[in-house]
Amino acid sequence: MNLADKTIVVTGCCSGIGSDFAKLARLQGARVIGLDRADATLTLDGFVKADLADPASIDAALAALPERIDALANIAGVPGTAPVAAVARVNYLGLRHLTQRVLPRMPAGGAIVNVSSILGAEWPQRLDRHKALAAIEGFAEGEQWLRDFPVPQASCYQYFKEALIVWTLTQSQKLFMARGVRMNCVAPGPVFTPILGDFVSMLGEERVQKDAVRMKRPAFSDEVAPVIAFLCSDASRWISGVNLPVDGGLASTYV
Ligand SMILES: NC(=O)c1ccc[n+]([C@@H]2O[C@H](COP(=O)([O-])OP(=O)(O)OC[C@H]3O[C@@H](n4cnc5c(N)ncnc54)[C@H](O)[C@@H]3O)[C@@H](O)[C@H]2O)c1
Repeated sequence: MNLADKTIVVTGCCSGIGSDFAKLARLQGARVIGLDRADATLTLDGFVKADLADPASIDAALAALPERIDALANIAGVPGTAPVAAVARVNYLGLRHLTQRVLPRMPAGGAIVNVSSILGAEWPQRLDRHKALAAIEGFAEGEQWLRDFPVPQASCYQYFKEALIVWTLTQSQKLFMARGVRMNCVAPGPVFTPILGDFVSMLGEERVQKDAVRMKRPAFSDEVAPVIAFLCSDASRWISGVNLPVDGGLASTYV
């Protein structure tokens, strides 16, 4: 895999999957610009501190991002132990806002990779609802729609990962046809990162135990990073509109 001469913007670069992806992409020759609300403690080619929950902060960050962006890795996210509004904003509305503003800077051959989750697997059960949200443009308009159709705290993480998958699927073909830009999702199962404990609190012991016997172990984040790198690279130039599980086979055990 080769990312030489690509400029890649990585959200969530300060921890977990985003940090491992940023390091790997640099090793593979990319120029990596990180974006995170935390302070960067890794070597990058550029860093912008921004809050994806705030569209004004995203717009300000854009001024500091390069004019040409070959790939955008949307990795930042918060667990479902955060308030519903924060999960909606960071994991969905802010991700969309950043992506829509980065797109004009992306040449043909560009790639967008959104990190979803195994917990978004039930998107077909709420497809109409997710398609309706996907069709609503704009951060504020999305928030208004969510006020009209509130999402419960207990399932908000799953809901917005499902919504992200559906948004990716509904946008990808027109992007690819019209612009030659690919958009895909990577769907990790449990990963050893600082938020793994939040997932245990969020899902409850019963679900965690149910999954634990179906897999060898949670992933390490450096087992997810190369898949994101692949989807950013030209090696995946004919892959668009997929939600690729990286879960050690866990999702397949629910079939
Ligand atoms: N860890 C898991 O088990 C797991 C499983 C499936 C999917 N995921 C997804 O993987 C992605 C990465 O998670 P991780 O496990 O590496 O978590 P992490 O907490 O280690 O990293 C998340 C990063 O996102 C940043 N971030 C959070 N809110 C932000 C905001 N408002 N603005 C800017 N940056 C913000 C954090 O500062 C942090 O650097 C997330 O989208 C998460 O939902 C994680």
